[in-house]
Amino acid sequence: MARILTGITSNNIPHLGNVLGAMLPAIELSNKAENESLYFIADFHSLISLKDAEARKNSINAVAAAWIALGFDTNKNILYRQSDVPQVTELTWYLNCFTPYPMLANATSFKDKASRLSEVNTGLFTYPVLMAADILMYDANFVPVGKDQLQHLEITRDIAERFNHQYGETLVVPEPKIEESVMIVPGTDGQKMSKSYNNFINIFLPEKELKKVVMSIITDSKGVEEPKDPDTCNVFNLYKLVANPTQTADLRAKYISGGLGYGHAKTALLDVLMDKFAKARETYNHLIANTKELDAILKQGATKAATIATPVLARVRQKLGYL
Ligand code: ADP
Ligand code: TRP
Repeated sequence: MARILTGITSNNIPHLGNVLGAMLPAIELSNKAENESLYFIADFHSLISLKDAEARKNSINAVAAAWIALGFDTNKNILYRQSDVPQVTELTWYLNCFTPYPMLANATSFKDKASRLSEVNTGLFTYPVLMAADILMYDANFVPVGKDQLQHLEITRDIAERFNHQYGETLVVPEPKIEESVMIVPGTDGQKMSKSYNNFINIFLPEKELKKVVMSIITDSKGVEEPKDPDTCNVFNLYKLVANPTQTADLRAKYISGGLGYGHAKTALLDVLMDKFAKARETYNHLIANTKELDAILKQGATKAATIATPVLARVRQKLGYL
């Protein structure tokens, strides 16, 4: 049995890039009988950049509802809010004291963000230690993450190995699990879809608003009759990630032969989005309208998570002489 763990920071509504690039592959992994998965909403991490309480609550609900709506089985697995198992902050403190300062100061993500942000708080600096605690707290074996998080996994492994070296085998050293075929989902402007570029598609929007976003996808100005190159078109590049192979081949042929306007292509994209995510949209809307149900699922997840975390923390306390 392998234990899989991953977190998504709750500072926005999950977009199509998050869904296709991270959430659906993680859900597939969690459905395998031999895996036990702990997926959590990193709401402590969100405080680094998001200070608005209402926005945080909305994002927590959106991320949790999206996991469930997309098919994460919360009976087989564990879905919880990071802050519902606050022991993680205690472990973070212990790990801080085993983390060399230069390792954090040299982290690429810290240097990159610190050079761009107007406010650089200490949370941003120690963020990888909280992430290490997230992982080590649950004896996780595998951590599915995007390539940008690989260095944070290396930091986690380094901290765990330092601890184990000094106190004997205590913490499980996790392996990153990078999707090799990671698709980069393009945004409405053709760059990588990201909340930071404001080019994202929120598949849970009401149909009218979703249509507006799809219609705003940038294309060239070729007329209806002109043949078009599917491979350089943002609409087609999104379509092929959502549609089935027959639909994709059909649309490709229409691009090449001409006679298909970009308006038609966008409508085709809207149709496959609405179709592929019909059930997910329904469940998502239900949960967002009934947040008590969502809270109950998260509380149940936190209780299960705590039964794993408590003995790990006791192990650490004991090694350090706190117990
Ligand atoms: P954003 O770029 O919007 O801030 P995050 O960094 O919060 O997104 O992404 C969370 C996860 O979603 C990442 O681990 C990454 O694997 C995945 N992801 C985000 N954007 C994309 C994208 N455009 N294509 C594929 N995967 C993505
Ligand atoms: N830092 C991750 C991200 O921005 C989110 C995260 C927090 C996480 N703790 C984690 C991911 C633990 C995996 C494991 O995407």
